[in-house]
Formats: sequence, C-alpha cells, structure tokens
Amino acid sequence: MAGSVGVDRLAFYRQDMDQLAARGRLRGLAERAGIDFSSNDYIGLAGSARLGDAVRNAVREGVPVGAAGSRLLRGHTRWQAEFEDHAARFFGADAALGFGGGYVANFALFSTLPQRGDLLLMDELSHASTHEGARSGRAEVQKFRHGDVSHAEQVIKMWRRAGHTGAVWIAVESLYSMDGDVAPLDDLVGLADQHGFLVIDEAHATGVFGPDGRGLSHRLEGRENVLTLHTMGKALGGSGALICGARPLLDFMVNRCRPFIFATAPSPLMAVAGRTALDILRDEPWRRDELQGHVALFGAEMAQRLPQMQISGSQIAPLIVGPDAPTMELAARIRKRGFDIRGVRPPTVPDGTARLRVSLTLNATRQDILRLAETLEELWPDL
Ligand SMILES: Cc1ncc(COP(=O)(O)O)c(C=O)c1O
Repeated sequence: MAGSVGVDRLAFYRQDMDQLAARGRLRGLAERAGIDFSSNDYIGLAGSARLGDAVRNAVREGVPVGAAGSRLLRGHTRWQAEFEDHAARFFGADAALGFGGGYVANFALFSTLPQRGDLLLMDELSHASTHEGARSGRAEVQKFRHGDVSHAEQVIKMWRRAGHTGAVWIAVESLYSMDGDVAPLDDLVGLADQHGFLVIDEAHATGVFGPDGRGLSHRLEGRENVLTLHTMGKALGGSGALICGARPLLDFMVNRCRPFIFATAPSPLMAVAGRTALDILRDEPWRRDELQGHVALFGAEMAQRLPQMQISGSQIAPLIVGPDAPTMELAARIRKRGFDIRGVRPPTVPDGTARLRVSLTLNATRQDILRLAETLEELWPDL
C-alpha cells in the first residue's frame, strides 16, 4: 500500500507511468515551439495588442489581479458583474455566470442542474468535463451516437417507456473539439422542447462563427430551455468561461453549485480581458473572415495533395492516421520541420482513430499553410 511504513510510496505511480510508456501512451509536457497549428487561439487574440493594452490599463487603474474571495463573499467584483451583464446582452441570453474555466463550468453545470429522476443524455464524443460532471451528478446518464438525433430520440423513447417523467438534459458541443464537425442544433432543440433542456458547449465556436462571433447557437440563445457555455480560453484569447441561460437556473447555481460557491472567483483582470475580447469580436470581423480564408485554403490544398483525407471544413481539421505510434511519430517529424502539430491518441479519442489535430489560427500565415500542406504530403505515412 502506498501509505504503509517501509514501502516505496511512489511505486504505484512509477509503475503506472511505466505501463503507459509500454503501451506508447505516456504523455509529457512539451513547451510550444514552431508555427502555431495546434492552439485554440483561433483569431489570434491571446497575444493581441488590444487585449494586452486593456489588461495593462486595468492594472494601472487599480483593478486587482486576484478576486480575493469566493463570489458569495468578497470575490464578487464590479468588473465580473459588468462583464457578465455585458456578455448576456452580447450573446442574447437572459443571464450569464462566470467560472475560472470551461472544464470547471461544465463540471459545475452537469453536477448541479440535472436532478434525481432526470436523464442526462450526452453525445458520445462530449468533452471529458461533461463526463466528469455527469458522474458527480444525480441524474441517470446515457449516451447517444455522435451527431445522431434519431438515436437520441430512440433513447429518450425507451426511457419514457420505462415510466420516467423527469426532464431530459441533452448535452452537445456545437463544434466538436477533436473532430471539427457541428451538432444538428435545430433538430436537437426540437427534442429539448418536447422533453427538457439542451446544453450547448460552444467552446470552439465562440468567436469564430455566428454574427459578431456569437457562436453557432446564436439563434437559440435566450430560450428558457437552452444553456450555452462560452469559454474565454480559446478564440477569446484569455481564460475562464461563462454559462449563459435563464436566470432561475443561474440563481440555482449560485445557491447550489459547490464548484461555484467554494472557489475563489475568477481574476477581475480576466473579466476585463473577456469584455475587451467581446468588443474585438464586434469591431474586427476581418479576423473571422481571414480565418475562414485559412480554412478554405487548407481544405483546397489537402484535397489536391492528400485526397483520401476527409477534411472537416472548420478551423479544427483532424487528420486521422489510425494507430497510435505512427501518429505520434508523424507529429514529431512535422514538428522537426518547424510546425507545432500535436498527435492526439486514445483515450482522448476513440481507439484506432489517433490523429493529428491540425488547428488553423491567425497565428499562421497563408504561406505557412501552403508549406504545411506540402510537408504533410511529403511525410504522410503509407500504412
Ligand atoms: C469542448 C470543450 N469544452 C470545454 C473545455 C474546457 O475549457 P477550458 O479549457 O476553458 O477549461 C474544452 C477544452 O479543452 C473543450 O474542448
């Protein structure tokens, strides 16, 4: 046992790492290097002068670095409150509630809102944070096949047939983080209208799609049975997240959600950054246009050079290799050519679908994209 006297306390952990290494699944931290084809900084805001200036000015004007307490105590600052009000208006929602990040926000939502007697029905490719929230929550949990609304409907029918009368919480991502495809939101909201709620994780769509970059759920925002998650750590260039939805649901979270109540509030500087990022989305539509140009260019190059690859059509362009080892090897060879490309293996993605997750951002130029496509054609393995 790890805690017993005279026993190597670290043995379990070393062995586990050894086993991962033997299966080719050991992860390690590699500092960023090379041209950005792996970040989620899609429209290049993380290092932008305007975001940096806003935070610098805020510090100069006395905005504190830390919130210094939980939201229910002294941590509820005017900057956070203003940001949430502004964001609710921007996205067209009834209200918004901030969290330190998207992971904790998803965890908080799914572990708090669905109640005993409800069904939490998740797309099978939902993010790990949704799975963790589901595990900690009170509702029964089931999955439906990725993007398959008829399967979701079938699962609900079976559940109702068994006599359940609770609400159904359907959980999807608007743009899937590892596949770059979109959820059939219009059909899903129809199901939610009949049975309960739709929760849309907009992590990879906020700032990229929709009018003013409001995301793919912009038409659904403001309905009482739709909740959205807008993260600030991806296209918005900072960190943190907002849950947008009907005020009674958010009031319930303020009162019942342990990850909200028992945590230090997000930094007021991130509220300033978030507010500025929303202004940039409105003022600088060229960023979204340029990104769409990158997506089209990469798609056209790949269609010519590796026509066997299915290209997603969004800024997340996974190139599925299949087995783990050749994927990681290929990613390493491409990195040696100066492109920051990461391989993604199971368990993050299903077995047999290890991939290069090519992410297109404004941190790369059109020339960089052309050179990457050339390099991919040259190094793509014959499996
Ligand atoms: C779909 C999705 N939801 C939530 C998160 C978590 O967001 P954050 O990075 O802000 O914690 C991620 C990040 O990887 C994500 O891809």
